[in-house]
Amino acid sequence: MSRRSWAEPYKIKMVEPLRMMSRAEREEAIEAAGFNTFLVPSRAVYIDLLTDSGTSAMSDRQWASMMMGDEAYAGSENYFHLEEAVRRHYGYRNVIPTHQGRGAEHILSRLLIKPGDTVPGNMYFTTTKAHQELAGGRFVDVIGDRAHDPDDESPFKGNIDLFKLERVVKEAGAARIPYVCVQCNVNMAGGQPISLENLRAVRAFCDRHGIRIMLDATRAVENAYFIQQREAGQSERSIGDILLEVCSLSDGCTNSGKKDCLVNIGGFLCLNDDALAEEARNLVVVFEGLHTYGGLAGRDMEAMAIGIEESVQQDHIRARIGQVEYLGRLLIKAGVPIVRPIGGHGVFLNAAKMLPHVPREQFPAQALAAALYVESGVRAMERGAVSAGRDHATGANLYPRLELVRLTIPRRVYTQAHMDVTAESVIELARHADHVVGLKFTHEPKHLRFFQARFAPVVGSKVLRGHGEGAGCASGRCCGACRGSSRVVSAASTLNPGA
Ligand code: F0G
Repeated sequence: MSRRSWAEPYKIKMVEPLRMMSRAEREEAIEAAGFNTFLVPSRAVYIDLLTDSGTSAMSDRQWASMMMGDEAYAGSENYFHLEEAVRRHYGYRNVIPTHQGRGAEHILSRLLIKPGDTVPGNMYFTTTKAHQELAGGRFVDVIGDRAHDPDDESPFKGNIDLFKLERVVKEAGAARIPYVCVQCNVNMAGGQPISLENLRAVRAFCDRHGIRIMLDATRAVENAYFIQQREAGQSERSIGDILLEVCSLSDGCTNSGKKDCLVNIGGFLCLNDDALAEEARNLVVVFEGLHTYGGLAGRDMEAMAIGIEESVQQDHIRARIGQVEYLGRLLIKAGVPIVRPIGGHGVFLNAAKMLPHVPREQFPAQALAAALYVESGVRAMERGAVSAGRDHATGANLYPRLELVRLTIPRRVYTQAHMDVTAESVIELARHADHVVGLKFTHEPKHLRFFQARFAPVVGSKVLRGHGEGAGCASGRCCGACRGSSRVVSAASTLNPGA
């Protein structure tokens, strides 16, 4: 049976021009940025796939609602709309707005973590772990082993390994575990979901030990979509219904509204326990703002309330994840190694595999992201050893198994043609990946170093040696792409499926 193609469930009403600089200008820009795509000015970027955070296009309804901002210091009408939307779709009792996700993480960590505590979680996220550690806690990864294998095709690689969790609880003692941190659609694993079945089992385990579960619900809607599509018995349920069940299996959540909730700024902390929520409200006044605005303008809260309603619509989420899958499939078809299955919010390139000549100590993913920018003006980001940082006890660099470059897709912003151009750029780069040069730190910040670090190539001054330089290649042997052959990728011609 043939099915019609789907199309984006919206039409475009306002456009923002894109600019493309010359390759020479991009080479200058990346050098000035210390070979860190976070430090490249947006004006120098062609297609911006740095992050899906705060980069969504808002709907006409959201923009219209911003004119209805009630900018009262206390008790803004928009706060009550947000509270109502969060309660309806996430189901928690107490809703506390924060300026963004890490604001909520800060409050939650201060509230519940005491020095020496252990916080198990399904793979670290950078800001989440930073706040847990600043509060004196220790993060322990209890995600299943499959999450660390980019080629493993399991449908729920975000699942928690209950044996690992049990071991941590035995070692640390339940009393020293303030909560288990469960992340939906695990970011650093490549946007991989947790199943309802696993979450229910974690809930039962935590109930037996009297331990709370706090959800990082930042991409819980995308996780709900994967549950609907992949988990037995879930295909007839609505996204909203699944989302409510996911949240009902936890005691509260932190949420960056800048992702699923389709806004450019905002977040929230939810807690079912009234007494804890009261304490959290008291902390919010110190760090974010009064508990009815938490660092946001009234108009921001209104846009988030409407974004939440839009985010659970089936046609929205299908198109959002469908676009990511479209890009991923193009790359798979061309033989580019990416994390499988294709994730919810982006396509993750396996940089370690693409650049076997660059040792881990020379940060292949950081180099690949910089080289992709030089090659095409497409901005991606490193998700590997630079993001992982250092071991606090020994000071040694951490080398997670995954050394990835994330092509993160903003919601409702780019078209299918942009995905084609992105795929063409990555495939072209993969053809002469031997020309990418490793990097070394020239400046390493103390906290969340990947945001502001600066690097230099380990040899020469360029991260991507030009074609035809032959013996000048990073590996000391030319890949052959200069001479028009293609070793790494054989099927660039499979692109442009619309033709
Ligand atoms: N949790 C997860 C899983 C995230 O991906 C992020 C942000 C946060 C918490 C923090 O939220 O940025 O609103 O303070 N992720 C962004 C990214 C930065 O690019 O993945 P925030």
